Amino acid sequence: MVEFNLPANSRIKSNGKTWPKVGDGSNTKKFKIYRYDPDSGENPRVDTYEVDLDDCGPMILDALIRIKDEVDPTLTFRRSCREGICGSCAMNIDGTNTLACTKGIQEVKGDVKIYPLPHLEVIKDLVGDLTHFYAQYASIEPWMQTKTPAPPDRERLQDRDDRVKIDGLYECILCACCATSCPSYWWNGDRYLGPAVLLQAYRWVIDSRDEATGDRLDKLEDPFKLYRCHTIMNCAKTCPKGLNPGRAIAELKKMMVERKL
Ligand code: SF4
Ligand code: SF4
Ligand code: FES
Repeated sequence: MVEFNLPANSRIKSNGKTWPKVGDGSNTKKFKIYRYDPDSGENPRVDTYEVDLDDCGPMILDALIRIKDEVDPTLTFRRSCREGICGSCAMNIDGTNTLACTKGIQEVKGDVKIYPLPHLEVIKDLVGDLTHFYAQYASIEPWMQTKTPAPPDRERLQDRDDRVKIDGLYECILCACCATSCPSYWWNGDRYLGPAVLLQAYRWVIDSRDEATGDRLDKLEDPFKLYRCHTIMNCAKTCPKGLNPGRAIAELKKMMVERKL
């Protein structure tokens, strides 16, 4: 059932902590960061950190790492590749879901406000629980399925025109920025697959080497899994890789209609 009010223990306390400055210079920027530790029994708070920009890398992730290394080792966030490939540093920065490692500090005017991706259970600080998101991804069976035996001495080939069809799809890094910006996914995420997983589903449907197209479309033929997309397009606006899940969903819907004609 949809809850319209936040549970009392998830409301942000007004008195967050202010931490000592990182670095000695005067060219500083303030970072206001959401903190939540379920083991403390306390409500979330927003802490203030100040970082000397002349002594810090240019990206938001650089500042988070400096803060963690030098003043507050308890600050918790995910990161790995630091170059926009792994998708793990997705968070809400300055009101937009994006990747901390590719978002420049100077792109944000004023204080930098950082929250976890919206509408996820928070595990700790900036880390949201993506268990359900990954289970939905697994449900679309994201691997090539074939009946024809592969040629014994080489890979399955694809001509240039077919290869181009997966451009704008294979680049998805499953960061979940789009899914957690989608109002339909906020309200129906238990059954609606959401933009990231549907983009991935389309990536396999449209791949000329895959031979399970009919089965894949059958599994998506459901009032909730696919048809909760109302073309609001938050997904395309927020995707840090410049992809357009809304268009992929529209293509899936078109294929559903065409195969009935
Ligand atoms: S489509 Fe874009 S925003 Fe969505 S999961 Fe993939 S890379 Fe992230
Ligand atoms: S276009 Fe569809 S998937 Fe994308 S934000 Fe809108 S409702 Fe969600
Ligand atoms: S750390 Fe891998 S995408 Fe940001």
